[in-house]
Amino acid sequence: MVKYVVSSLPETEETIRILDLATGTADVAILLEKEYSTTKAVNSELRVLGIDPSKNMIEIGREKISSEGLEDQIMLEIGDARSLVGLKENDFHAVTMSKL
Ligand SMILES: C[S@@+](CC[C@H](N)C(=O)[O-])C[C@H]1O[C@@H](n2cnc3c(N)ncnc32)[C@H](O)[C@@H]1O
Repeated sequence: MVKYVVSSLPETEETIRILDLATGTADVAILLEKEYSTTKAVNSELRVLGIDPSKNMIEIGREKISSEGLEDQIMLEIGDARSLVGLKENDFHAVTMSKL
């Protein structure tokens, strides 16, 4: 799934944005960044916003992100996929929601 999503991203944008719903402890967000880093064009970057209602999952996810050195690329927020507040329809190039 991660390879498919990354291969489907536009190649002409400098900043690619993915919304990862039910992000849990950010495993998918981290895999997306790692896959993107192997294929990305020069001067392009991937930003992932992960949303999950569980404070505990978000906290563990932030620790994983920190240990991977991806704090500038991945942001996690507490939220509910059924009621996304403050996000606009065209803010993201892709949306993921998975259960690894
Ligand atoms: C099995 S985990 C999957 C985590 C991650 N997507 C993965 O594949 O590793 C399911 C996650 O869905 C989250 N979740 C449950 N209800 C949700 C909702 N309404 N909106 C967003 N996330 C939700 C849970 O808190 C949990 O972290």
